[in-house]
Amino acid sequence: MDRIRIVGGQRLSGTIPISGAKNATLPLMIASLLTEETLTLDNVPRLADVVLLQRILGNHGVDIMVSGKRSGMTADHGQTLHISAANIVDTTAPYELVSKMRASFWVIAPLVARMGQARVSMPGGCAIGTRPVDLLIMAIERLGAKIDIDGGYVVAQAPKGLKGAEIAFPKVTVGGTHTAMMAATLADGTTVIENAAREPEIADVADCLNKMGARISGAGTSRIVVEGVAKLNGARHAVLPDRIETGTYAMAVAMAGGDIFLQNARPELLQAALDVLVETGATVAPTNRGIRVARNGAGLAPVDVTTAPFPAFPTDLQAQLMALMTRAHGTSRITETVFENRFMHVQELARLGARIQLEGERATIEGVERLKGAQVMATDLRASVSLVIAALAAEGETIVNRVYHLDRGFERLEEKLARCGAAIERLSG
Ligand code: UD1
Repeated sequence: MDRIRIVGGQRLSGTIPISGAKNATLPLMIASLLTEETLTLDNVPRLADVVLLQRILGNHGVDIMVSGKRSGMTADHGQTLHISAANIVDTTAPYELVSKMRASFWVIAPLVARMGQARVSMPGGCAIGTRPVDLLIMAIERLGAKIDIDGGYVVAQAPKGLKGAEIAFPKVTVGGTHTAMMAATLADGTTVIENAAREPEIADVADCLNKMGARISGAGTSRIVVEGVAKLNGARHAVLPDRIETGTYAMAVAMAGGDIFLQNARPELLQAALDVLVETGATVAPTNRGIRVARNGAGLAPVDVTTAPFPAFPTDLQAQLMALMTRAHGTSRITETVFENRFMHVQELARLGARIQLEGERATIEGVERLKGAQVMATDLRASVSLVIAALAAEGETIVNRVYHLDRGFERLEEKLARCGAAIERLSG
């Protein structure tokens, strides 16, 4: 298993290209199941989760062609995928595949909408809280599918097609909103989704679905209206930039010190996180090509932050912010309201010398003068990158074990940081 070795203490300077968003790419790839025609996606990041979803879609009979490199293109350009679900040969998504990535459960929506049936294993994925799928099932059921649970599988049936309905989510759910929106595109009549998630990735997927001939309005707000159509067509769509990757590198430079340009980043996708960074004392300067983030000399100020659905501070940046606050001058508080139990990074950060107290959903972080390198273990996707951030400011060597978690969501992380002066390398094997 690969490990990452970091020697702390180097300042960062230079440019980091921001990749396409993982959390938009996955539902966009899944949306290809809604049409017989080819969906072409540009700016697709090279991530383990994307490769895994290619396999999952392949199992349904989807053909995926990756465009070859054109002259002048570097690894910094995303990939282009041509996805064709002309023939869906199997409507079952098996346990062996779905258990590796939770978002693959979402295939249930396009499969039942287009094929009238789907048999999808209950998901696995990151070990952060219980992460049920009851609301996703509720949404499909509201659209008229008959649902059974059979041997760990959710079996959805709608032989005569889905019917538009009102779906009011009791809790904001990104996966629930994607599922409801995708399924409703091919339903008969109008669907209204209330208390919808407002994450930018929802709006990006809606944009793409509309290019495919769907009739969706209100995506990006808490009320989405979908007028069902009989058929969707092919389209071409470029994935929006990854706001979590953006925020992660912004925090990395706030931690290590220095001056970084986050190329292609879009400030409006993570305003709450940028505001927090400014509060900590970092300089944040948006331009029309990206965002410049710097911290030179000044110490870090402590903050009090609560995670919540967009547009609030994202849970996917909580671990990274906590790493940053381990070096603040004073006591910070971070309250996690989206996922229970999303604090697995706390004990690993403690191995580096962090002082963090946990009480229910709240972490109290007492900033320390110095962190010291150690062996640490990546436990989930975002937690693992928080260890990298901490290591950038720790004295001596840190080894992050189990980096396959990182590879699920961060494209060439060690290369992007090393180019900016970090002492970081991958140890293979
Ligand atoms: C998505 C993101 C993930 C992010 C999360 C919250 C992708 C691929 N993943 O995950 O990176 O951390 O949004 O921003 O986009 N819930 C239920 N029942 C359900 C579904 C969810 O109770 O049926 C709860 C969850 O346990 C959680 C909350 O709702 O407490 C939000 O989860 P949700 O927004 O659905 O997260 P995901 O879509 O899985």
